[in-house]
Amino acid sequence: MAVLITGGAGYIGSHTCVELLNANYEIIVLDNFSNSKPEAIKRIKEITGRSFTFYPIDLLDEDSLDKMFRENDIEAVIHFAGLKAVGESIDFPLTYYSTNIISTLTLCTIMQRHHVKNLVFSSSATVYGTPETFPISEKNPLGALNPYGRTKLMIEEMLKDLYQSDQDWSISILRYFNPVGAHDSGLIGEDPNGNPNNLMPYITQVAIGKLNELSVFGDQYPTADGTGIRDYIHVVDLALGHLKALEKTALSSGVEVYNLGTGKGYSVLEMVKAFEKASGKQVPFKIVSPRPGDVAICYANPDKAKVGLGWIAKKQIDEMCEDAWRWQKKNPNGYSKNYNLDRPYLTGEGFFVGNK
Ligand code: WQD
Repeated sequence: MAVLITGGAGYIGSHTCVELLNANYEIIVLDNFSNSKPEAIKRIKEITGRSFTFYPIDLLDEDSLDKMFRENDIEAVIHFAGLKAVGESIDFPLTYYSTNIISTLTLCTIMQRHHVKNLVFSSSATVYGTPETFPISEKNPLGALNPYGRTKLMIEEMLKDLYQSDQDWSISILRYFNPVGAHDSGLIGEDPNGNPNNLMPYITQVAIGKLNELSVFGDQYPTADGTGIRDYIHVVDLALGHLKALEKTALSSGVEVYNLGTGKGYSVLEMVKAFEKASGKQVPFKIVSPRPGDVAICYANPDKAKVGLGWIAKKQIDEMCEDAWRWQKKNPNGYSKNYNLDRPYLTGEGFFVGNK
């Protein structure tokens, strides 16, 4: 019985594949490389020394997806595949609705057809919109402020309707706060296309000299130093949260939502200082006007995941910065651009990554 990981070549997906393989799960990885690189697939194998089947499939390709389910004995799905840049979603809403929502609809339809009803879904704290109370619990009001967040909110509602129609489903919805850092091997990490939208990859690219200075988006927020506060969580802690959710979905049906955060917030300037301490590098910055759509403060109440999943985030901010820096130093240009896998990959045809 295998676990299907959609978007398994992505930042959080690749880290989750590593932890699943280390925990002796049999996995099948699916990715269309629209927002990731094949090199990540090879690195997962390199880190774990374990083999797995990979399918270069787009979730919108219903026939290939159905064929893959026929070819494999899949017991559960962890669904990462999707687009996740807030600003981009404002510029290209139809691409976001199509990619994120229709692909999830297709996936759930095929899962149902093959009686696979255990699902862990990658959601986001963006669904909370502008939080009114802190720390943010799963009971906080919802209200996404951009197309990306709205796709996550709509998918959450779809999954709740799906369960109401068929209570054999077991669904865990995981709302991520701010994933940062990298596997301590430095072999996998965050590899944004173009200039990074997110804070940590921007900081690491300034530190390595690819970018000149960090623009701090506003210092007039109602926080101690005026800059935005977020709940940064190490991507390996986040990955381990998925293993706990997977165990939970295997045990009981229902739909449960969990915040995956540390419960502690850091400001932008506190993050810059922590990174400079961890890396020994200076990060020059300038204060600019606030980024439209940004909230001032966002950090989690992670108690439900602690009680319901038996999971807490353990890694501290210094380790997040050290691990992010190690990845950037070892991979100045992210995954190598001139990548190729052992075989030319055929759409829809699975092939084995590793030694037979
Ligand atoms: C963090 C803080 C910025 C960049 C987004 C998505 C969320 C999730 C994580 C997908 C904020 C400040 C940032 C920069 C800055 N993605 N900042 N200069 O906006 O909290 O969350 O990414 O699931 O859904 O909304 O993350 O890293 O962009 O910003 O000052 O160049 O850093 O203002 O206070 P964000 P971020």
